[in-house]
Amino acid sequence: MKNLLHLNKYLLKYKTLLIIGAIFILISNIFALYPAEFVRHAFDNIQVSLTQNNLNKSIQYTLLKYGGLILLFAIMKGIFMYFMRQTIIVMSRKIEFDLKNEIYEKYQNLDISFYKKNNTGDLMNRITEDVNRVRMYLGPAIMYAINMFFLFTLVISKMFIINVSLTLYVLIPLPILAIAVYFVSKSINKKSEQSQAQLSTLTSVSQETFSAINIIKIFRNEKNSFNRFYEECKKYKNRQLKLVSVEAWFFPLIILLIGISTITTVYIGGLESFQGTISTGNIAEFIIYINMLTWPVASVGWVTSLVQRSEASMQRINEFLETETTVLNYTSKDTKIQGNIEFIDVSFTYPDTGIQALKNVSFKVKENETLGIFGKTGSGKSTIANLITRLYDLDKGKISIGKKDIKELNLFQLRRNIGYVPQDGFLFSGTVSENISFGKNDFTESEVINAAKTAEIIEEINQFPDKYSTLIGERGVQLSGGQRQRLSIARAIFINPSIYIFDDCLSAIDANKEKLILENLKEKIKNNTNIIISHRTTSMQHANHIIVLEDGKIIEEGTHENLLKLCGFYAEMHLKQTNKNT
Ligand SMILES: Nc1ncnc2c1ncn2[C@@H]1O[C@H](COP(=O)(O)OP(=O)(O)OP(=O)(O)O)[C@@H](O)[C@H]1O
Ligand SMILES: [Mg+2]
Repeated sequence: MKNLLHLNKYLLKYKTLLIIGAIFILISNIFALYPAEFVRHAFDNIQVSLTQNNLNKSIQYTLLKYGGLILLFAIMKGIFMYFMRQTIIVMSRKIEFDLKNEIYEKYQNLDISFYKKNNTGDLMNRITEDVNRVRMYLGPAIMYAINMFFLFTLVISKMFIINVSLTLYVLIPLPILAIAVYFVSKSINKKSEQSQAQLSTLTSVSQETFSAINIIKIFRNEKNSFNRFYEECKKYKNRQLKLVSVEAWFFPLIILLIGISTITTVYIGGLESFQGTISTGNIAEFIIYINMLTWPVASVGWVTSLVQRSEASMQRINEFLETETTVLNYTSKDTKIQGNIEFIDVSFTYPDTGIQALKNVSFKVKENETLGIFGKTGSGKSTIANLITRLYDLDKGKISIGKKDIKELNLFQLRRNIGYVPQDGFLFSGTVSENISFGKNDFTESEVINAAKTAEIIEEINQFPDKYSTLIGERGVQLSGGQRQRLSIARAIFINPSIYIFDDCLSAIDANKEKLILENLKEKIKNNTNIIISHRTTSMQHANHIIVLEDGKIIEEGTHENLLKLCGFYAEMHLKQTNKNT
């Protein structure tokens, strides 16, 4: 139960609901208890009437009275059961809501390297499937446990008062029932987990087919694709059949054991009644008690297996709730994010792969100037952007912005002031306007339009069916690679940052458009500190200074003209690229 202790803070938060719920459970059990006694009185009255051979009007009235009472108590019990669910189950849903939010918030604070280590399916499962299992502990398990406690105490003490030996006899099959149900439930849970896992595989297979449907069609891969689906579907069916075969044991088992208890009650009760220690009405009363105890006893086994399952799920959740974030914000003060960016002897190794991406890199970008970073694929260009935005913290050396070490700057302000255009222009499903104004609530339409204008995407947006309200992404307009890149540029321009980092974001844009965008940007970025990353020399021509990276090291640097004169790697690449273009 150690892992479930984390939930105590929530149980404490909603203690009022829990306590009121427990009171409702107690009241509903009291109402459930008396009808058995009414049945006994009714039976005993009939017996008396029969022996006196006197079935007159008064016995009819008595029976009607007990019938009415049984009905009234059943209604009252029902009402309190409704309240019991309205408190305890509502509490579990509230905790589920809080826990999901706690997990999501933790997700957003965790380092990027955490995401490299865990796959998306696993992360999704924790916030959905695992939380759901934990909720089964907070709701049904707690509710049935409290219910069981009250019912047992009330019913068994009542039974003992009536007749001790009869009680002992009829209770014997119940522990066997609890143990049997525990094993059946455990097996059901295991089988249903296996079938759930297969269902996930099946979903991934079909999802892959839908997203790659054009490739499947062109390569005429339909048959293979169908066979794959068929095989996975068959596995799923087999697992479901296994599950059904175990589930089929559940109710027959319960009915068998109630049957044994009932027969014992009638037999032993009959003997006792002959001896005159109990009345025949008591036998009827006992049969009702046995039936009342059956479900709670069965639920002991069920609840135990629920608790075990949620314990395992909570362990998975705790595992990463306890994961430490290494990239931390060290100050809550306002820190100005402006000025020269300087790298002094910076080295960096990716913690998850051990790849050394930067080796003793030093450079300086002055405020109001633009640095070009040029290099082949994998040379470490994006890594520089990752370090400035503090997605990762460097191992060796120093990075400063406006003479201050970046670790001394307020992390959130730092990120808010960087207009970062990533290499793979990722867009969210939503409208064009939402994608440009990403995360900001108070803005004017003209700000969005201006950003779109600078990024040279305005013409296309105006042709979309609903202009800035057009939905993009899965259920909306599909954008080309170049359009996506330009929308990402607009997103960075929109926040009006003091630092711009353009990570190879012009690669899918033709030379003419590229030139236009760079011209537009010139005015916008002239008072900022800017970095343009590219493996196209044409994008470098606007930079005041260029560094050329290879294998994590700076191999050449200077202005475009100087680098050409140097006749080194940069000049060679420029020659190749411009020849290709003409
Ligand atoms: N998140 C990461 N985790 C581990 N290793 C990484 C990660 N990102 C990059 N690397 C490795 O670091 C090295 C430098 O990568 P980087 O992304 O900085 O290259 P790049 O110059 O931006 O290349 P490209 O032009 O293809 O974008 C590569 O060897 C790459 O495999
Ligand atoms: Mg890159």
